[in-house]
Amino acid sequence: MSSSREILHGQWSSRWAFMLAATGSAVGLGNIWKFPYITGVNGGGAFVLVYLICIGLIGVPIMMAEILLGRRGRRSPINTMRYLAQEEGRHGGWRFLGWMGIVAGLLILSFYSVIAGWALAYLMRAGAGLFSGMDSEAVGAVFQQLVSDPERLLAWHTLFILLTAIVVARGVRSGLEQAVRYLMPLLLVCLLVLVGYAMNSGAFQQGLAFLFKPDFTRLSASTVLVAMGHAFFTLSLGMGAIMVYGSYLPRHVSIAKASLGIALADTVVALLAGMAIFPLVFANNLAPGAGPGLIFQTLPLAFGQMPGGTFFGALFFLLLIFAAWTSAISLVEPLVAYLVENLRMTRVRAAALACALAWLLGLGSVFSFNIWSGEPYQLWGKTFFELLDYLATNIMLPLGGLLIVIFAGWLMRRESVLGELEMNDGPGFRLWYSVSRYITPVAVLLIFLHAIGVLEPLLK
Ligand code: TRP
Repeated sequence: MSSSREILHGQWSSRWAFMLAATGSAVGLGNIWKFPYITGVNGGGAFVLVYLICIGLIGVPIMMAEILLGRRGRRSPINTMRYLAQEEGRHGGWRFLGWMGIVAGLLILSFYSVIAGWALAYLMRAGAGLFSGMDSEAVGAVFQQLVSDPERLLAWHTLFILLTAIVVARGVRSGLEQAVRYLMPLLLVCLLVLVGYAMNSGAFQQGLAFLFKPDFTRLSASTVLVAMGHAFFTLSLGMGAIMVYGSYLPRHVSIAKASLGIALADTVVALLAGMAIFPLVFANNLAPGAGPGLIFQTLPLAFGQMPGGTFFGALFFLLLIFAAWTSAISLVEPLVAYLVENLRMTRVRAAALACALAWLLGLGSVFSFNIWSGEPYQLWGKTFFELLDYLATNIMLPLGGLLIVIFAGWLMRRESVLGELEMNDGPGFRLWYSVSRYITPVAVLLIFLHAIGVLEPLLK
């Protein structure tokens, strides 16, 4: 057994290395760009509440399950699932889970990189002091000008994909640790400063009320699906990213504590971003439902007015790019690990191939904000970017997570699970086990069924 458990990709140097890498994967554009914008589009408080419940009841249990499968399999997600299915006497078709994750990762990276490109463009603009003294109209115009130019977006998208390919080619572990260790706390400080600024914006109460006071009339089946999808997206769950990071995890690290810590850090960052942005939205009479441009149309107002705003704005976008970068890496790692293991490719080639695919697909998202933004280019009222996001985030990730938690909860032997979690059979383990077996899968299924309208007649 020990020889079949050989480690193909090396290990994290310590428990901390894993924590930092996994937190680096979780904290990214999902927290700072996506959470505020979808909260705005979906009406605020009630959406946030459902999202928080999803993090606790669906996200944390699935994160534990995903790390546990990864550490037990010690391979790329496809091979891990094949190997574990064999070990537990289950059907080899479980490796489909790994394949779906690889596809979801590529789809997400393709648009993730385009948005990270916006942050690169804004780093330049903030650093040049462009925003100083601007009002909301001028700031909005800067954003429109950027996204309406496909060539510019393409250039920034290309740069970001290259940055990602370089780190992935060198191996996930080198350098990443140190960087996350120092830059993540700095990002947190930046967010706190922005929240401090928002406190004096004159609309802090209003912003908080929007975020935390649930108005359940704004909740619909599709909003609940989006909230659940985002819980997966923001925690990097359901596609094998956390599984592959878990596969480099040494023994004797508490998976439960690690998962809780990562989920907590991730949630704090998202809520702080919301608390920084919504007061600005209301103080400047902007629309909370402005869409994907929300942070790019609000935060520059703060940088334009606060003392030292040029420096501070540049620092903020730099850290945001960095956070996006540590997330993007994890989106291709499952594919790269597979190419290295099964096709014996070098990491450099594997990284180049994976990133080239994501780059190509990203063209569709580049054009979604300009030449393909019109009706004739939409499907079901969604642009290419919106469609990819919907398919990957709201369907593929929850489906992947559902399969993961079913595998760990129902198809693996209880002793295998218990052994891998390195927990004793006490109340902590029992709580996780019963939530993972009964509550998490049922919740994901109900939200799916609700979204496609199956539950409608029952609720009348
Ligand atoms: N969690 C990251 C964010 O919030 C994005 C991300 C990285 C991701 N790896 C992932 C999302 C894997 C889904 C699956 O920005």
